[in-house]
Amino acid sequence: MNIILLGPPGAGKGTQAARLEKERGMVQLSTGDMLRAAVKAGTPVGLKVKAVMEAGELVSDAIVSALIGERLDGDAANGAIFDGYPRTQAQAEALDVLLRERNRSLDHVIELEVDEAALVDRVTGRFTCAQCGTGYHDRYKLPVVSGVCDVCGSAEFKRRPDDNAETVRTRMSEYRAKTAPILPFYEALGIVQRIDGMAAMDKVSGEIASILDRD
Ligand code: AP5
Repeated sequence: MNIILLGPPGAGKGTQAARLEKERGMVQLSTGDMLRAAVKAGTPVGLKVKAVMEAGELVSDAIVSALIGERLDGDAANGAIFDGYPRTQAQAEALDVLLRERNRSLDHVIELEVDEAALVDRVTGRFTCAQCGTGYHDRYKLPVVSGVCDVCGSAEFKRRPDDNAETVRTRMSEYRAKTAPILPFYEALGIVQRIDGMAAMDKVSGEIASILDRD
């Protein structure tokens, strides 16, 4: 199964993709995670995209589509959750070609509908375990034991450099200007499903599960 999770920064794409990966063995393809890994490793791609990401702007279409292509021939050969990709019309068209070349197609585009005013709070409160990457939030999801990761027991946590209020606003306007307009492309294929991304995380997961289980 190949699905896209679509929504602005903080909509919950990464949270839900990680749950699907854990519960259903699906493969999460987050271009944001791939780019952050490239920045951390100091690869040529990482050096090129670092400043663009820190400003909250979009990285070039060619770079992200190449990253996705590599994964479709690797660990995501049997299906994928696209998280944060595609983000422009050119990327939507590139994904179409990448899938067709592999005799694959999209099953669902799931749009997480959210109230933008609440998203700055979601994003600026986010932090992750520095060891295993488990996601937390200052108010909505704290570790059970304060300062200790629920999953791996590490006491080290980190925050993303682009998770400040000013950059989040730029990321949102990029979403409105370049990503939201790709929805009609998928609506024409009849594969868009909309769910309430403002509901509690478990409720959102349940709605996604019921879409996937219909197949
Ligand atoms: P990327 O990493 O993709 O960031 P994003 O799209 O801005 O999305 P986020 O990761 O911020 O949000 P999310 O929807 O995953 O929310 P999450 O689940 O964490 O991209 C970063 C940058 O990389 C871009 O700005 C760009 O520069 C570049 N880039 C990446 N892909 C690109 C592409 N294709 N083309 C060009 N450039 C690209 O949730 C957020 C918080 O809210 C968490 O703390 C979570 O615990 C909490 N939360 C989640 N769901 C709920 C809920 N239902 N109720 C309460 N709290 C919730």
